Amino acid sequence: MGRLVILTGHTSGLGAALLDVFVGEPENTVVALGRRRSLRADPNMRQLVVDLRSPADAAHAMSGALDVADWSRITQVLLVNNAGVLPPIGPVGSLDAIDLAEAVNLNLATPIVLTNELLRLTADLDIERRIAQVSSGAARTPYAGWSTYCATKAGLDHFTRSVALDAPLRCRVCSIAPGVVDTAMQAQIRASNVNDFPELERFVEMNRDGMLASPDRTARRLVEHLLSESFGDPSVVDLRDLAG
Ligand SMILES: NC(=O)c1ccc[n+]([C@@H]2O[C@H](COP(=O)([O-])OP(=O)(O)OC[C@H]3O[C@@H](n4cnc5c(N)ncnc54)[C@H](OP(=O)(O)O)[C@@H]3O)[C@@H](O)[C@H]2O)c1
Repeated sequence: MGRLVILTGHTSGLGAALLDVFVGEPENTVVALGRRRSLRADPNMRQLVVDLRSPADAAHAMSGALDVADWSRITQVLLVNNAGVLPPIGPVGSLDAIDLAEAVNLNLATPIVLTNELLRLTADLDIERRIAQVSSGAARTPYAGWSTYCATKAGLDHFTRSVALDAPLRCRVCSIAPGVVDTAMQAQIRASNVNDFPELERFVEMNRDGMLASPDRTARRLVEHLLSESFGDPSVVDLRDLAG
């Protein structure tokens, strides 16, 4: 059996840890989509450089990713939509229009487009498709100062619930909140301004108290769930609520 894994945002944080897990399995061919190259080089990995703020470029990259595979041996395709940004941070009415639109594109429009392109371009193939959207607790709890981030992640959750209803049987989809993970995104939160993000102190405390999950452990648990029998049912989960 061979598996094609398409992963976005592999250059940092959770994505870099996911890349480690995926390239460690010899049956995997990994295609990583990011706007920068990772220094990591493995014989079973290819990197495609694409700025995922452009959904049209993302669609083109999906077709490039599928061209990489040796289809005579692939029985399963995984797509992990991990790339995302938190900014712009601050109250609505104070934000830059371009920043807002680009965050919506990266966090929501591109994962929707990549999901559609994967299902469309592999519709005639006899393979299993599994799609994981990396969501956030912020999809389910509103935070002052994070309205765009909360809205895009909530959109990703609801898109996934809907796809689960119309996906063909050979596709499973799930939107997964990973918990609070020790990555550059958390450092960016702690560096934000309390006027823009009133709950800042809670995140500073969580870091000080050692409450942040490691990217490696989070990536291992996410992949374990992605490959499990229960993946896709339910279609929206929080990694912290899963056993293990
Ligand atoms: N960390 C947490 O506590 C936490 C909690 C809930 C959800 N999440 C979610 O987890 C996912 C990973 O976040 P992280 O914490 O690992 O953050 P991170 O370390 O900042 O990583 C974000 C990744 O997205 C990529 N990316 C950003 N803009 C891009 C663009 N325009 N085109 C292509 N790639 C782009 C980054 O690439 P560059 O290296 O080029 O910037 C990087 O690889 C995100 O979807 C985030 O919302 C994180």
